Amino acid sequence: MLRRPRRNRKSEVVRNLVEETTLSVNDLIFPMFLVDGIQKKVEVASMPGIYRFSIDLMLKEIESCMKLGIKSFDVFPAYPDSLKDSIASESYNPETFYLKALRAIKQNFPELCLMSDVAMDPYSSDGHDGLVKNGKILNDETLEILGRMSLAQADAGVDILGPSDMMDGRVGFIRELLDDNGYTDTSIMSYTAKYASAFYGPFRDALDSAPKFGDKKTYQMNPANIKEALIEADLDAEEGADFLMVKPALAYLDIIKLLNENYSLPIAAYNVSGEYSMIKAAGERGWIDPDRAMLESLISIKRAGAKVILTYFAKEFAMLKG
Ligand code: PBG
Repeated sequence: MLRRPRRNRKSEVVRNLVEETTLSVNDLIFPMFLVDGIQKKVEVASMPGIYRFSIDLMLKEIESCMKLGIKSFDVFPAYPDSLKDSIASESYNPETFYLKALRAIKQNFPELCLMSDVAMDPYSSDGHDGLVKNGKILNDETLEILGRMSLAQADAGVDILGPSDMMDGRVGFIRELLDDNGYTDTSIMSYTAKYASAFYGPFRDALDSAPKFGDKKTYQMNPANIKEALIEADLDAEEGADFLMVKPALAYLDIIKLLNENYSLPIAAYNVSGEYSMIKAAGERGWIDPDRAMLESLISIKRAGAKVILTYFAKEFAMLKG
């Protein structure tokens, strides 16, 4: 045998020499859940190890993550039903706890990269990402609301806006509005190929944001489709997105690879709540080694072509790998 591939696997040093894909905390964004109030830290039942924090404790948590090397955070708010309405008006109330928290985070840690979420669902009494009329999700009317929300978040000092709503034309609409108002440095990470997925279940528990009727299939993509991802990516690139995101990650590695091969923009992938919870649940039962399953999942997402990974494992990864 002239060729013996096992020679390149014979020791850890040699294996490391030939290792093609590496992952560091610099690649990761840590999604976090915010609630109103003080001194609150409540574990999300379906996401062991992940909490809803009030801003005071979230600042402490961010500080401990920063010590571990995590520098990028994506904050999602959990609103009580009493503050939800059909037009998501709380989303652009300058006094709302989410916007105040974003401002406080940037003021306390100007060096971190802060991402926010642009969509109506946390504030919507319908639990949908867009405006609902007669059981339909209206596209163009939703853009106005997303625009107001985006400006309010940009004003709070957010570095990257994350439109997760999947309305048509929202990236261009938001980009133009940001530029017209002087926020030329505020980035947009578009949820480009966001699929209608069962893997968002635990996230909707965390935010109490499940749709009140129907599903999200008229705006989120069909898991069976590839070509639509190219259409969405074409539009987002033309409309001025700075990053193209694929979501979920693990069941869509082919889409990550496709976008990475066809676009020069950096590709992000969202390792979503259900992907996290499955590993946690199986780990708790002793059915898999959760640390190894985490590392293998994250490296596969990077190998497929994602430069940036949003993951609830960020802190654990940092503690394990630093
Ligand atoms: C909604 C939004 C969702 C997630 C991020 N933003 C859920 C949904 O579309 O219903 C899911 C994230 C996760 O599951 O971790 N705008």
